[in-house]
Amino acid sequence: MCGIVGYVGKHSPKDFLLNGLKSLEYRGYDSAGIALKNKHDLQIIKSVGKIKNLEEKVKNASLIKSNIGIAHTRWATHGAPTENNAHPHQVGKVTLVHNGIIENAGEIKERLLKEGYIFNSDTDTEVACGLINYYYDGDEIKAIEKAIEKLTGSYAFGIMFEGNEKLYAVRKGSPLIVGINDAENYIASDITAIINYTNKYILLDEGEIAVISDNEVEIIKDSKKINKEVLTADISAEAKDKQGYDHYMLKEIMEEPVLLENTLRPFLADISLIPDLREYEEVHIVACGSAMYAGMIGKSLLEEKASIKVMCELASEYRYKKVFYDRKTLVILVSQSGETADTIAAMRKAKENGIDTLAIVNVKTSTIARETDRQIYIEAGPEIAVATTKAYILQVAIFGLLAYRASNSINIISEIKKLPRYVNEILGDRDTYLKIAKEIYQNNDIFFIGRKIDYAICMEGSLKLKEVSYLHSEAYQAGELKHGTISLIDDGTPVFGIITDDDIRDKTISNIEEVKSRGAKVIIVSNRKVSGYDRQIIVPKISDYFQAILVVPCLQLIAYEVAKLRGCDIDKPKNLAKSVTVE
Ligand code: F6R
Repeated sequence: MCGIVGYVGKHSPKDFLLNGLKSLEYRGYDSAGIALKNKHDLQIIKSVGKIKNLEEKVKNASLIKSNIGIAHTRWATHGAPTENNAHPHQVGKVTLVHNGIIENAGEIKERLLKEGYIFNSDTDTEVACGLINYYYDGDEIKAIEKAIEKLTGSYAFGIMFEGNEKLYAVRKGSPLIVGINDAENYIASDITAIINYTNKYILLDEGEIAVISDNEVEIIKDSKKINKEVLTADISAEAKDKQGYDHYMLKEIMEEPVLLENTLRPFLADISLIPDLREYEEVHIVACGSAMYAGMIGKSLLEEKASIKVMCELASEYRYKKVFYDRKTLVILVSQSGETADTIAAMRKAKENGIDTLAIVNVKTSTIARETDRQIYIEAGPEIAVATTKAYILQVAIFGLLAYRASNSINIISEIKKLPRYVNEILGDRDTYLKIAKEIYQNNDIFFIGRKIDYAICMEGSLKLKEVSYLHSEAYQAGELKHGTISLIDDGTPVFGIITDDDIRDKTISNIEEVKSRGAKVIIVSNRKVSGYDRQIIVPKISDYFQAILVVPCLQLIAYEVAKLRGCDIDKPKNLAKSVTVE
């Protein structure tokens, strides 16, 4: 969600900035812009739509000689995705790019209008830019400090001032790093934008201002210079290549077996590395989207297998609702990016109430990884496709381990070790998924039905399909359909019936019969054959703790094939952002 890159060095920033924006494309955006600068001159070029439109405009422009620059991909919040609203914005001597939302932009705008300021866009960003300019009297740090004191909301800013050759950066809520190199330095929303240039970086913390020139990076906190550790990123440039696959989504699904092996290995060698949740009377699992659906699997397993009371809640609800912390509670935050605004707010709510927090997270340098009490890392590496696949599977695997550790189960370690091989087998059956995709890709409404843990699987199957293929689909508890929704089932309506839970198997089959007899085109996904159905995907049977991991990859591949048949922009579905850093 919004991407920022910036450059200061001896060369033209143009190529670095455009390449950086392309690396951040996965975050989601609807317009883009670039500002090139030398000490006194500034040139801003913006465009709506894909970065190639911006590239085209830059190619056709006569560019100023520059050695500093900032660039931005915008995911519209305040104001439509128009060229005017695209960043960078310039007011007076200040030019900036912004990721986040300034919540009090309205009142600041009123004030600045009275001071004679004129605004050319509908954005909160231009207002923030105006405010910094308002306070600017030649002291850049003072101007930034005074402005951020007045701003509420979230922001990562890359800022340039007329008359100097430095780049300034500051953040609250939204992520930003400073890349370190010889004779040039950078800023970026995340490491993927700079990894082809350097793997050395500084994590900017809230309240710190970075002052960046070609040969120096200073970090200022409370008007004083502080020392910050320079970190080394452990991702390779290849990790963010498609490596021959048509799409990142496909590549990332295909990585699942190896990543499962890498993530599970240390815990299978020593299961005590997994926290024993029996020390808590209640667990709250809080997350957004697919991460929440992974949490629903966790809830089902922890309740059924370990008899632990679990609440699983969307972070956007949890952060504002009345939560009773009247028992010894653990809050588990699940997040691939570790930067999801609502999940961060939920984490902070738990901490303010003195509640223990545990993160299941991918990005080790993220806010959630840094602010929780304990962390379990999924070793997914960079996930570039907007729709999560591999990270979800690894999150579910961690919940399987948490439930196993907290239960009095017989030893199933040798069975767990079979998981990567089984997932590999499942992923090999692409012809079956393509065949099913061909049967459903022209339908308008698709249903996923299941009960208990299978309903949680349905939620993820349905989300994956709708987000990448733009087909309407719904997940339903199979027993609930007849209370209304079954009226939507017509001749040929595709219905995926998910059946892995043996305890409820016969009941689910009866519910599937109900839709079949109303004409539904049923596709069974189960670990055992169901008689009377032509379309069936049968996955290997494994211990209940990990059975979901053998079903969801099939649904991910079906979603992928459907999206491909429908000609969708699979890795960057419309309207979506990878890292949802605003509320
Ligand atoms: C769906 C998807 C989203 C994310 C959600 C949370 O494919 O990717 O639903 O799961 O935005 O993101 P993280 O895990 O980064 O907190």
